[in-house]
Amino acid sequence: MNFLQEEIIKKARVLNEDVLKVDSFLNHQVDPSIMSKIGKSFAEHFKDKAITKVITVETSGIYPALFTAQELGVPLLVCKKSNSFVLSQDYYCTDVFSFTHGNLYHMIASKKYISDDDNFLIIDDFLATGEATKGIVTIIEHTNAKIAGVGICIEKTFQNGRKELNKIGMKNIYSLVKIKSLNNNTLTFE
Ligand code: G4P
Repeated sequence: MNFLQEEIIKKARVLNEDVLKVDSFLNHQVDPSIMSKIGKSFAEHFKDKAITKVITVETSGIYPALFTAQELGVPLLVCKKSNSFVLSQDYYCTDVFSFTHGNLYHMIASKKYISDDDNFLIIDDFLATGEATKGIVTIIEHTNAKIAGVGICIEKTFQNGRKELNKIGMKNIYSLVKIKSLNNNTLTFE
């Protein structure tokens, strides 16, 4: 059992059969010592991949992504969410539907910060339906930059995220914790 599983057992709460509440340490109140360990784990796993930039989407992906970027010694690019994006030549943009929040948003990233010779590592807190990660992939696919892999803190394997990412060619997905089920108010790890 790794440190993140231990923390989940101690502090997480099953909200319903789809959602795990981790707001005491991961995405509302944030524990820097856990984030630091997460950053070290991702950096260790992807250290030979010649990553030039870490990329995530606001909001809660930022915490693990920042610690990972620090460990790898590369910048972090944070894709922004906007509900009223006015098309501009300066940004790459894609539409993302969040099943968990039930809303559609524009994901945007400045063209200035993505170059063809970048090799990205995508980091996010959850892999659920995979929509957010697919949005990041679409943004990067506007360019000739590469994606070396995806690092996920908590993957819910009973949802379709990994399958959806595999379909679009994302094979190198590394999850620190895999959750098989949240049924009957009980958390079951893979
Ligand atoms: P995805 O993350 O696989 O794309 O799936 P989905 O569209 O369903 O996720 C929408 C948002 O909900 C994501 O945050 C994701 O991190 C979060 N989320 C998904 N499953 C869970 C869960 O079991 N527990 C909690 N606490 N959050 C979950 P986001 O849209 O990036 O928004 P933000 O909340 O980070 O701003």
